[in-house]
Amino acid sequence: MGLLDGKTAIVTGAARGIGKAIALKFAAEGANIAFTDLAIDENAEKTAAEIEAMGVKAKGYASNAANFEDTAKVVAEIHKDFGRIDILVNNAGITRDGLMMRMTEQQWDMVINVNLKSAFNFVHACTPIMMRQKSGSIINMASVVGVSGNAGQCNYSASKAGMIGLAKSIAKELGSRGVRANAIAPGFIITDMTDQLSEEVKKEWAKTIPLRRGGTPEDVANVATFLASDLSSYVTGQVICCCGGMNM
Ligand code: NAI
Repeated sequence: MGLLDGKTAIVTGAARGIGKAIALKFAAEGANIAFTDLAIDENAEKTAAEIEAMGVKAKGYASNAANFEDTAKVVAEIHKDFGRIDILVNNAGITRDGLMMRMTEQQWDMVINVNLKSAFNFVHACTPIMMRQKSGSIINMASVVGVSGNAGQCNYSASKAGMIGLAKSIAKELGSRGVRANAIAPGFIITDMTDQLSEEVKKEWAKTIPLRRGGTPEDVANVATFLASDLSSYVTGQVICCCGGMNM
């Protein structure tokens, strides 16, 4: 028996990286998976096939999470296809780093829209369904820099701090309706997003981490599985740092 048997999960931005690892881990625990990404290309089709191979229902949906109407449409489609929505993982995210002095309005707006407004869009579309079901688990992908801030990432850090505030507020608003909301704050996780950094920068990062390594997408997926499942039935409004002790 899996921890998520019979549940349906939406994971945004899950064609690759942390989102994909979460989708695979949820599927291994018995959840049916609806995932979104900007395009359902060859790579996303491969992801869908990998999830389906675990014996669950899986479908990828092309949708821009930053777009309110697009999101309302895709959530309605997913609800029609799967019949219920038990878990929402707001994972889609981007970086457009730069020091404040040089940051453009476009860099700011893009990051806030893709990382934070997207979560509002999905929460707005999914919570009426979860409230009718009288249960649901929402997981916002934040970051340790949303807790501690980071030079050169004021847009990204602000968006991730927003993800924490959003999860805590939803927890307070909807706890009485059976809907839980939490945030995960990953530290340095090795994915395409962080692969752009030089080997030297990566080595320097590792030195500052008590567990002396970057995290894997699977490390984050394990925390997400705990928060999605009934193992965390009395946990809401919390931020769990998954960072090898980087943030204490
Ligand atoms: P990634 O860049 O490998 O994957 C992100 C996925 O989101 C991609 O498939 C991308 O196409 C999709 N995406 C981007 N914009 C989208 C949009 N508007 N609508 C739908 N999908 C969209 O990133 P990674 O590393 O897997 O990160 C996943 C989440 O974890 C992000 O929210 C990121 O900020 C967060 N995170 C990552 C950390 C890391 O070290 N990799 C650390 C802390 C947080």
